Amino acid sequence: MKNEAPEVLISEEQIQLRVAEIAEQISEDYSRAEDLVMVGVLKGSFIFLADLSRKLSIPRTIEFIAVSSYGSGSRSSGAVRLVMDVRGNIEGKHVLIVEDIVDTGHTLKYLIGMLKSHRPASVKTAALVRKAESAEVEVTTDYLGFDIGDEWVVGYGLDFAEQNRTLPYIGIVKPTDR
Ligand code: IMP
Ligand code: MG
Repeated sequence: MKNEAPEVLISEEQIQLRVAEIAEQISEDYSRAEDLVMVGVLKGSFIFLADLSRKLSIPRTIEFIAVSSYGSGSRSSGAVRLVMDVRGNIEGKHVLIVEDIVDTGHTLKYLIGMLKSHRPASVKTAALVRKAESAEVEVTTDYLGFDIGDEWVVGYGLDFAEQNRTLPYIGIVKPTDR
């Protein structure tokens, strides 16, 4: 991968403002719900989850789940594989899935179904970014940071072949396979 910094699509400041807004909304919506469990989808959501969870004004616990759907390419296979399930018991709890990005929607759709099988009280979804034009399956994003076009983005947790996850902003890269 080249060393040049990816072009800025969403700045660090824009992200921080939006994450604070979403945190306020979630804090309000769940103010009367006991047992909110935020389930971060590894690896891409780790920074979004860290910032979002620390801005909430309500009690919450954190779980992680890991899936794999892409390998190192940039096109979805549509086949989602569970790599790691939640460790804690989420039965009867309010689950908020925290994803980095919704592209085709296959991952989130799979995760909602999978987590529902644990019999939680509710399941909702939060995603930092959504590629609205790329949807192949219908899936609701209850809390959304930003809609973007069909571009490959990196930073704030998102990677291209494991690179650029820790950029403070969201930038665009041009993968060679698309
Ligand atoms: P979906 O199943 O097609 O919705 O893909 C969702 C997953 O693909 C996300 O959780 C990301 O891990 C990955 N992904 C999709 N688009 C991008 C991108 O532009 N940058 C980095 N990862 C992406
Ligand atoms: Mg992901």
